[in-house]
Amino acid sequence: PAKIRLRHLQQAKADGRPFSMLTAYDQFAARAFEAAGVETLLVGDSVGTTVLGHSSTTATTHQDMLTFTGAVARSVTRPLVVADLAFGTYEAGPADALRHGVELVRAGAEAVKLEGGAEVAPQVRALVQAGIPVLGHLGFTPQSVNSLSGHRVQGRDEEGARRLHADALALQEAGVSAIVLELVPAALAAEVTAAVAVPTIGIGAGPQCDGQVLVWQDMAGLSGFQGKFVKAFADLRGELQRAAAQYRAEVGERAYPGPEHSFE
Ligand code: KIV
Ligand code: NA
Repeated sequence: PAKIRLRHLQQAKADGRPFSMLTAYDQFAARAFEAAGVETLLVGDSVGTTVLGHSSTTATTHQDMLTFTGAVARSVTRPLVVADLAFGTYEAGPADALRHGVELVRAGAEAVKLEGGAEVAPQVRALVQAGIPVLGHLGFTPQSVNSLSGHRVQGRDEEGARRLHADALALQEAGVSAIVLELVPAALAAEVTAAVAVPTIGIGAGPQCDGQVLVWQDMAGLSGFQGKFVKAFADLRGELQRAAAQYRAEVGERAYPGPEHSFE
């Protein structure tokens, strides 16, 4: 099947065909998702919490993003590869955003994602003018976990909903190619999805978004994270633990390695 480009996501929205995005940070997971037909891979700054053991994505560095973006980009050809701009790499202004965005593209990203609304419109413009497609990210924005007082659904009250709607329009005006909506009431996400021409990609934002995204270790039941919006489509943690326990037992009994695994 053909290489996925941003115009295919735009076409999917026009056709009312939902598309999927999963996070990916390494070769084998990325290849499995490509083989499964997943249209877009996000090298999320969630790599800091899922892979590197941090408690917040505020700890994820630009160098982390370059390393894992490279790993994913080298491993797949068909999915669209999107990389997050790390916390602290774009807030100061357009020049900073552009410098870090260019480095992500050099590492293999085909688009970059940053968090925030109207306040990051100048950064979006600078990236887009340089030929770097940008995805926005509204609702719960994990890099602002401290000012948002934790992982909370956003846009529940009228003022919050109005602001989220306005931010989506501001991002569209600045030139984003898609907008991630995280932890947003389903009705508000549906309203924003209808109001913008670019695709929305939901996580904890109900079924009416144009696409959906999940952190892959949540999707596959490896993390054990069971937020309301998560569905574990496998029990990878259970399966991995079972395999490791059997390996350990067979080593202990000298059942593994057997003659068939040994050299004459
Ligand atoms: O870093 C990430 O995994 C993300 C998605 C959850 C949207 O930004
Ligand atoms: Na992210």
